[in-house]
Amino acid sequence: MGKILIMDHPLIQHKLSILRDENTGSKEFRALISEIATLICYEATRDLPLEDVEVKTPICVAKTKVLAGKKLAVVPILRAGLGMVDGMLALVPSARVGHIGLYRDPETLMPVEYYCKLPADIEEREVFVVDPMLATGGSAIDAITQIKKRGPKHIKFLGIIAAPEGLDALAKAHPDVDIFVASLDEKLNDHAYIVPGLGDAGDRIFGTK
Ligand code: PRP
Ligand code: URA
Repeated sequence: MGKILIMDHPLIQHKLSILRDENTGSKEFRALISEIATLICYEATRDLPLEDVEVKTPICVAKTKVLAGKKLAVVPILRAGLGMVDGMLALVPSARVGHIGLYRDPETLMPVEYYCKLPADIEEREVFVVDPMLATGGSAIDAITQIKKRGPKHIKFLGIIAAPEGLDALAKAHPDVDIFVASLDEKLNDHAYIVPGLGDAGDRIFGTK
């Protein structure tokens, strides 16, 4: 079973409260999504492998460590996942970025895929799939199924708010995937929106409503 981590760091909880507020406008909303993504990325990269190096300081030669050159890819689920990319790249600037386009059909609530462009060498990379909202889990499950067909080394899912239903569904469908989210909310409502949630993440990021 993959790791499931609900990040309850005080900085994340504080930023999340402002993010949820219906009076928070798109400019601040985008900045907060990005900042929370950076904080989650910090934890999700904790197990990156290191290698020994020697560095000459002004005093002596230090035996120290650097990242062992592990290749990473960030794959946002369009649209809302785009809001997390800059915050991820702030910590892992050399990661490649793929894109997978899915939307939930408002009638069936099932994910509909419309775009998929991944790094050509994805089989050599660890993939961080990012999407702020994990509601029914359908979009994340479908995106990860598509990415797995290309044989990446390992996949982690990084989200901001999850519903219990979506977290369970994702963990069951992809038990090998580590899941990092900032909050586990109460439930889904009748329209499969997360309660209390933050509303429609894509619309709030891009100001489309
Ligand atoms: C939202 C969100 C997730 C999905 C979560 O996207 O960004 O991708 O819903 O719901 P699920 O877990 O039930 O699949 P939406 O379909 O609204 O598309 P958009 O980002 O293009 O607005
Ligand atoms: N997608 C969103 O953007 N918000 C929700 O609460 C559920 C799905």
